Amino acid sequence: MRLEPIEEASDLVRNARRIAVLTGAGMSAESGVPTFRDAQTGLWARFDPEQLASEAGFRADPPMVWRWYASRRDAVTRAEPNAGHRALAAVADRFGQLAIVTQNVDGLHRRAGSRDVIEIHGSIMRTVCLARCGFVEDEPARLPSGDPPRCPNCGDWLRPGVVWFGEMLDARQLAAAEETSRECDLLLVVGTSGLVYPAAGLPLTARRAGATVVVINPADTELDRMASVVVRSTAATALPRLFGV
Ligand code: OAD
Repeated sequence: MRLEPIEEASDLVRNARRIAVLTGAGMSAESGVPTFRDAQTGLWARFDPEQLASEAGFRADPPMVWRWYASRRDAVTRAEPNAGHRALAAVADRFGQLAIVTQNVDGLHRRAGSRDVIEIHGSIMRTVCLARCGFVEDEPARLPSGDPPRCPNCGDWLRPGVVWFGEMLDARQLAAAEETSRECDLLLVVGTSGLVYPAAGLPLTARRAGATVVVINPADTELDRMASVVVRSTAATALPRLFGV
């Protein structure tokens, strides 16, 4: 008798030595944080990413872009980690190491209690200087006033500390994410469409280094063909079942 995908995936989890997790926007969907590319509800279905998520878009209208990120920051502050985030945090100690590489900027993995989290696209709670003079503020309440505020060090605009289209990822974060992918023997890929690189290349890195890949996503994705098992379910349903918590 053939096992259900969730049972096959649970077996892989039970036998894994070192698990890593790659998450995308779908991980937080059940916390009420919208994804980017889901038809109708996705942020990029309703807003133009060139205007809102690029340096050129910011320079064209700093107040508009700043306000959009401020409203997303408010929404993220109101959101709570879901059962999927909580399951990953709860089982980390069982595995000695359970590294999470996330494309999400919402901080929900850390708020759920996960400690080993690499935020490769930055954090929406962080604010940095557009001129990269070194100013960084992780506490929105401590920001200077302004819409957007000006950098207290150099006077340029302040901007969200997230990676925009056309920008490089932080080299150290990317190197850590690649190392995590190479060193795991099981990579769980949760809630990502697999369309944005370099994050979408990490499952191939893991496969090439000998790891097994499991995809958890209610819809088809570009990464399904990398996977030994595809679990057609949501993060908050599948992850607690997968780990038996
Ligand atoms: P996408 O919006 O491209 O993909 C979200 C994925 O989550 C889709 O494959 C959905 O099927 C899946 N999904 C939806 N609900 C889910 C649920 N409850 N449980 C599990 N999966 C679910 O988001 P990302 O792949 O994260 O970059 O997008 C990658 C990057 O593109 C983002 O980090 C962002 C965006 O532009 C930057 O802002 C730099």
